[in-house]
Amino acid sequence: MSLNPFVWDRPLADPADVVGMDSFAEEVALTLKARTNVAIFGARNTGKSSFLTKLTQELERSHGDGAEAHVVVRIDLKRALSLAAFISAVHEAMISHPARAVRERAREQIGLLEKEVGFDIRLVKANMRTRSHQPAPEEVLYAQLSSLARLGDRVTVMMDEFQRLHRCPGEPLAILGSALMGHRSGHVSLVFTGSIREYMEMLLSDSREPIFNQAVHLQLPPIERHELALHLEHRFRDTSSPIDEQALQHLLDLTASHPQRTQQLAWSCWPRPQGGRVVTLSDVQSAWQSLLSQPLSDVSIIEETLANGAESEANERKALYLLADHRGERLSSASLATQYGLGSHTAAQAAMPRLRRRGLVEQRDGRWQIVDPLLADWLHRNSPFSP
Ligand SMILES: Nc1ncnc2c1ncn2[C@@H]1O[C@H](COP(=O)(O)OP(=O)(O)OP(=O)(O)O)[C@@H](O)[C@H]1O
Ligand SMILES: [Mg+2]
Repeated sequence: MSLNPFVWDRPLADPADVVGMDSFAEEVALTLKARTNVAIFGARNTGKSSFLTKLTQELERSHGDGAEAHVVVRIDLKRALSLAAFISAVHEAMISHPARAVRERAREQIGLLEKEVGFDIRLVKANMRTRSHQPAPEEVLYAQLSSLARLGDRVTVMMDEFQRLHRCPGEPLAILGSALMGHRSGHVSLVFTGSIREYMEMLLSDSREPIFNQAVHLQLPPIERHELALHLEHRFRDTSSPIDEQALQHLLDLTASHPQRTQQLAWSCWPRPQGGRVVTLSDVQSAWQSLLSQPLSDVSIIEETLANGAESEANERKALYLLADHRGERLSSASLATQYGLGSHTAAQAAMPRLRRRGLVEQRDGRWQIVDPLLADWLHRNSPFSP
């Protein structure tokens, strides 16, 4: 019996499933091994967390003299909206480290740490005020992060969803910097991932933090279409549901090789429940139709915030429809500006950076495009401006 091989609703956990990131992973690993911190940003659902899985594999292998294997600690900051939650995320990363030897060292470090602060760390992370002499969370976090440096001779600490710290009160960046970027942690490299939108906000408000000055900033590269095609073809075939060539090409046309949408569409047209027949063009078409008919969270955001907002926001909405209807062409056309009710022929262009800050559009090869191909198609089909 075969099972649906596609995953689209969570980060990929197996590096073998991560398509097209081999050379970028090697580049980033070598940068980290040369003790340069790296910040990687990319739009939502484009594979930042999945990339960390591939990067971990690359860091854990030796690249020869001076670039030996690293111990990798991966911290998920999704819920780190307070120092207590940050502490909890670091604790989780330590006690559930996938390598047993590292896990044991981590437990040892936690024991030492608890002795040092005179407190059971689980109580801090639960934010419990059971004893009057509870140590300050700043102190615990500092000690805890410092202990990560003692987990190996060469260590990389990954902070996924780093931008969440922007909303965490209590100077988490300063604590992080002093614990892991000082002279005692010269053997520790840091990698941050986040969405560009919030990352940029953070950068603007905290531009003096050494964390930002001492990291190279890299954009997650797109996956090459032919690599994705090959991967999908194998996955379909290996689960006794081969996809025909025309269907495969149409699938990738629809999703424009967007990582998550491609996997979601492949997942949706895989013959449930157990495969066993050829996937055709009409399977792909009807799966896409059914995705389009589901509620899209982005659409309500756009319709509510942009449509009812100030004039500049109303322009953002119109510019987004123009982009969807004309696939990034003729953004500065005077006749289209009139058709879409934009004040001038420069208004659509001017709205692009604002839409990028919302995480909705990006510029590829000098051309603006909507990040999410499903949203783009939805907007085009429902455009109130299209003739
Ligand atoms: N390199 C890849 N190869 C194949 N599929 C991928 C790749 N990267 C991401 N995906 C697909 O995209 C989905 C989302 O990936 P992931 O969660 O890593 O993105 P993200 O950028 O971390 O998202 P978020 O912004 O929500 O944190 C995965 O479930 C997977 O289906
Ligand atoms: Mg992620």
